[in-house]
Amino acid sequence: METVVSGIRSTGKLHLGNFYGAVKNFVQMQNEYNCYFFIADYHSLTTHPNPEDLHGHVKQVLVEYLAAGIDPEKATIYVQSDVPEIAELYLYLNMNAYLGELERSTSFKDKVRSQPDNVNAGLLTYPVLMAADILIHRAIKVPVGKDQEQHLEMSRTFANRFNRLYHTDYFPEPFAFNFTKNLIKVPGLDGKGKMGKSEGEANAVYLSDEPEVIRKKVMRSLSDGGPTHENQQKPEPIQNLFDLMKIVSSADTYNHFDTQYNQCSIRYGDFKKQLAEDMIIATAPIREKINEIAKDETYLRQVARFGAIKARESASKTILEVRKIIGFKSF
Ligand code: TYM
Repeated sequence: METVVSGIRSTGKLHLGNFYGAVKNFVQMQNEYNCYFFIADYHSLTTHPNPEDLHGHVKQVLVEYLAAGIDPEKATIYVQSDVPEIAELYLYLNMNAYLGELERSTSFKDKVRSQPDNVNAGLLTYPVLMAADILIHRAIKVPVGKDQEQHLEMSRTFANRFNRLYHTDYFPEPFAFNFTKNLIKVPGLDGKGKMGKSEGEANAVYLSDEPEVIRKKVMRSLSDGGPTHENQQKPEPIQNLFDLMKIVSSADTYNHFDTQYNQCSIRYGDFKKQLAEDMIIATAPIREKINEIAKDETYLRQVARFGAIKARESASKTILEVRKIIGFKSF
């Protein structure tokens, strides 16, 4: 059975981008593949979270994974820092990753712009840690959103380089995966770019948002004065709302408003109301489970411990073989 790995940074609540870009695929994949889904808490350290907040953030993602339908009986769910073998592989891969290529990564360049006072080496080598996450289980499929495509390309580079250096074919090449043909980019509500945790509260709709909060966010999302001539191209903020509708609503609903837009008869109030209600319908079952699962500390502990054991089993096997390939021998 093919092996699958993916993770989500523990920097807060999951939003519709995380769900449609990644987690929805996790849930589908767990029935067909050997899956490892983790909570990337090492990765979250690049932004220096408070020690008091760290565990709460990890718990939040664990709860939301389970609420979204990841089943610990089918997939291995674990916390990244419970598997120190990942940090060891990261060290080895770092010896083989070059400054120039790391500096050229789009996500690094974005971070240099957004957090100029904290351009740490962890940010620079973020793609190497990601490669370690994937290669530690020798996975070949990685369900992620479009924004992670370049990181996957770098993972392949590091895997191939390791193989070449040590004259081996130990690491397979991992590829970004989505059940639909293309990787997904879920737009945000602020009229520009993708939905993200760091773009401000109003930009993202979270799985845990109450219906009233979703309605407010959608109604306040950026729009414009409306189309002025038939079949005109939609400006970015409007296109984004339509893209969101394509994701959460039925094809009939989407076509209805698309036709109205093209005929210049659309009323944004009705359009947004429909979009909000369809987001509420899509998230309601998850939201209810989030509240329920969060209370069950015993269950969460069980899941995390069981997951850590299974993940370490696979990871330690890889590390043993990698040490051998590199040439380490114990006396
Ligand atoms: P993170 O935590 O930023 O996002 C988690 C997943 O959600 C997807 N995603 C989106 N997809 C579509 N539209 C959006 N607006 C959107 N926002 C987020 C991301 O593509 C991702 O799949 N580096 C990763 C976490 C990670 C990882 C890994 C993933 C660490 N190691 C190994 C896969 C394999 C990250 O920061 O994702």
